[in-house]
Amino acid sequence: MLEVVPSPIVSSTLPDPAPVQVAVIVGSTREGRRAPLVTDWFTKAVADRVDVVLDVIDLAGFDLPAHYTPNATPSLTDLRVRLAAADAFVVVTPEYNHSYPASLKHAIDFAKQEWRRKVVGFVSYGGVSGGLRAVEHLRQVFAELHVHGVRETISFHGPWNGFGDDGQPRDPAGAAAAATVLVDDLVWWARALRAARQADLSVEAGEW
Ligand SMILES: Cc1cc2nc3c(=O)[nH]c(=O)nc-3n(C[C@H](O)[C@H](O)[C@H](O)COP(=O)(O)O)c2cc1C
Repeated sequence: MLEVVPSPIVSSTLPDPAPVQVAVIVGSTREGRRAPLVTDWFTKAVADRVDVVLDVIDLAGFDLPAHYTPNATPSLTDLRVRLAAADAFVVVTPEYNHSYPASLKHAIDFAKQEWRRKVVGFVSYGGVSGGLRAVEHLRQVFAELHVHGVRETISFHGPWNGFGDDGQPRDPAGAAAAATVLVDDLVWWARALRAARQADLSVEAGEW
């Protein structure tokens, strides 16, 4: 059910101890969606960590323009400001027709520099594949935006996306371990890339 790989990373040995700002992006906007269940589990799973600060960006709460436009709107500005403030991203995504929801791609394409030279991790859910096909497509998209994707993925699959009637993962210990592995790696990359961005502002301002 969960892809868990032991991590040798000890993030506290890195020189920059400031907490990592993590934007948790909720990709599904469907009525009746399971996304809040999965997102709530993830945010609670990492709530005790002192090395991350979460900002949950729920795309269902944004009124993004239907057409791409250079004109700012309140929702668009809010989205871009919050993405810019992030050192790292965690994308919570289901699988729709062997890929990720259009709502997520729509939001991704509205930003550019806000993504650049940062790191992304994935929490996926779906049917038999646990959303992993959505994640593989997202890795290609984020590579184009100069975003490093961490190897570890948290993936829930099966009936009700791997969650029981109580709204909790059917394998709570495995899910918690997977969250630790994912966020350990995310923090390592986020700190390394933050230091690199601060040291070389020309890279930060680079064109495509
Ligand atoms: C339009 C649509 C297409 C879907 N396609 C797939 C699919 O290709 N593979 C899969 O495993 N699950 C698929 N599902 C099941 C979803 O992954 C599952 O219902 C999930 O809960 C959807 O996320 P949401 O509830 O947050 O919208 C699909 C669901 C929808 C609504």
